[in-house]
Amino acid sequence: MGSIPFYAKRFVSGSNFEEAFSVVEKLNDKKICVTLDVLGENIKDKPQALKFVEEYDLLLKRIAEKPRDCYVSIKLTMLGLDIDHEFCYENLSRILSIADEKKIRVALDMEGTDYTERTIAMYERAAKEFTSPEIVLQAYLLRTEEDINRIIAANGKIRLCKGAYKEPQEKALQKMPLIVENYKKLIQKLLLNGKRVCIASHDDEIIEFCINFIENNNIPKDRYEFQMLYGMREKTWSRIREKGHNMTIYVPYGEDWQAYYTRRLAERKENVFFVLKNLFRS
Ligand code: FDA
Repeated sequence: MGSIPFYAKRFVSGSNFEEAFSVVEKLNDKKICVTLDVLGENIKDKPQALKFVEEYDLLLKRIAEKPRDCYVSIKLTMLGLDIDHEFCYENLSRILSIADEKKIRVALDMEGTDYTERTIAMYERAAKEFTSPEIVLQAYLLRTEEDINRIIAANGKIRLCKGAYKEPQEKALQKMPLIVENYKKLIQKLLLNGKRVCIASHDDEIIEFCINFIENNNIPKDRYEFQMLYGMREKTWSRIREKGHNMTIYVPYGEDWQAYYTRRLAERKENVFFVLKNLFRS
């Protein structure tokens, strides 16, 4: 088993769930919830996809062994979405049936636009059979406003993020101020109509906007939570938690860390500076 190179350790908690659980325990001690993600995506062969199903199976059982404030996030291309739709759904069903039995939430991450429709369709189907699924939507996509209506009709459990993949202008807003405006518009609708809404952003403008909206509309605490990625803005996690809002950190682990790590570097030049600074220090 390989280990995570020191420069990626800021964003990736470890190569196995033992390492990830030590992060879960530290965050739970601070009354912060964790969503654990096994790293891996665009899997092209069935045995490899099944290996990841085994990993989630074991992970869910381990989470349930002790009372932990922890759930999981998952990418459908890890379960075989690129291979065969039904094969992927069977794998997802196996994970969701364990999650339902153990009462653990499962969020379906959203990948590039080649997968948007298929991910939503699979979530809609799963939401009819299982209680655990939630889904991520991306505020930069032009289609998201309509997709929100579908999610509210399915089970209304949603995480809204800006969107991390490079998409063409026919499909996605390109300028940050427009993405932020759209995020604010969509999150209001979700906070008023969604069952459980995860506000996934490190952006102060969005966070302050949501806090004001939640207070002005008396949105109950069990209907929303703030979410950030492991390695980003730790002081802000505690500040939000101290104000009494629920806070969840997305904590990835696993050996396939490169694609996730590259997206984090692409998002913010400060993340690249952090890595360079530490390269020169060592
Ligand atoms: P962004 O990087 O746009 O920064 C905006 C502003 O926030 C900055 O100008 C600064 O003011 C502040 N800021 C941000 N980071 C800071 C820092 N480290 N220190 C100080 N200030 C900082 N994407 C996707 O496509 N599919 C998915 O399934 C998910 N899942 C997901 C889960 C969770 C929990 C999160 C938080 C995010 C995702 N994402 C995602 C990623 C998401 O789409 C987006 O790419 C990143 O969150 C970056 O956008 P932000 O709004 O967080 O801040």
